[in-house]
Amino acid sequence: MKTFALIAGSLRKESLNRKLLAYLQETYKVDIKMEFIEINEFPLFNEDIEAEVPEQVKKAIQLIQESDGVLIATPEYNHSVPGALKNALDWLSRKEKVFVKKPVLIMGCSGGPVGTSRAQNHLRLILNSPGHQALTLPGNEILIGQASTKFNDKGTLTDDKTVIFINGVLKKFITWIDATKEWQKEEI
Ligand SMILES: Cc1cc2nc3c(=O)[nH]c(=O)nc-3n(C[C@H](O)[C@H](O)[C@H](O)COP(=O)(O)O)c2cc1C
Repeated sequence: MKTFALIAGSLRKESLNRKLLAYLQETYKVDIKMEFIEINEFPLFNEDIEAEVPEQVKKAIQLIQESDGVLIATPEYNHSVPGALKNALDWLSRKEKVFVKKPVLIMGCSGGPVGTSRAQNHLRLILNSPGHQALTLPGNEILIGQASTKFNDKGTLTDDKTVIFINGVLKKFITWIDATKEWQKEEI
C-alpha cells in the first residue's frame, strides 16, 4: 500500500482544495493511505527561531519522510500561492530538506476559469529550488476552474469529466513514483 501526505494550501473550513484532497483520500482509501499535514499549525517562519523546529513542523517532516509522495492542492491568491502554503514550504525547505527527490503532484481549484494555473506555475518554481528539488510530475496539470459547481453539498467531486481526468493523472503519478525509485535514493 502506498502512503501520500496531503497539503491543502487554503486554511478555510469549506476550502474546495481541501475537499478535493479529502475526496481523493476517501476514494482511494483501500489502496493508498493519505494523511493531511495541517499547515495552519505552523508558526510564521523566521530564521531566528528555526533552530528549534516546532512540533507541528517535525510531525510534517516525519509524515513526508515516510510517504511515497505528496499531493499539494493550492488555491490561487492574487496570481500566486497563498502565504500560508509558502510559509509551510519555507519551513520544509530547511534542515532535513524533506522534499528533496520526493515525488509531488500539484493540483488546484479556483472560482475563476483558469483553475490556479498561475499559482501552480509559481508552486513548480518553488518546488524546483535548491531547498526543495522535488520530483514534481511533469507534463500534467490538474486545473479545476469554476470549482464550486463541481462538488455537491457533501463535498464530493461530482463532475464526471473531472473525476475521470484526475483518476488518470493519479495513475500516472503512481507510475512516476515507481519509475523514479532509484533516482529518489541517489545522492546528488
Ligand atoms: C486573497 C484572495 C485572492 C484571490 N486571488 C485569486 C486569483 O488571483 N485568481 C483566482 O482565480 N482566484 C482568486 N481568488 C479566489 C479563489 O480562487 C477562491 O476563493 C478559491 O475557492 C479559494 O480556494 P479554497 O476554496 O480552497 O479556499 C482569491 C481569493 C482570495 C481570498
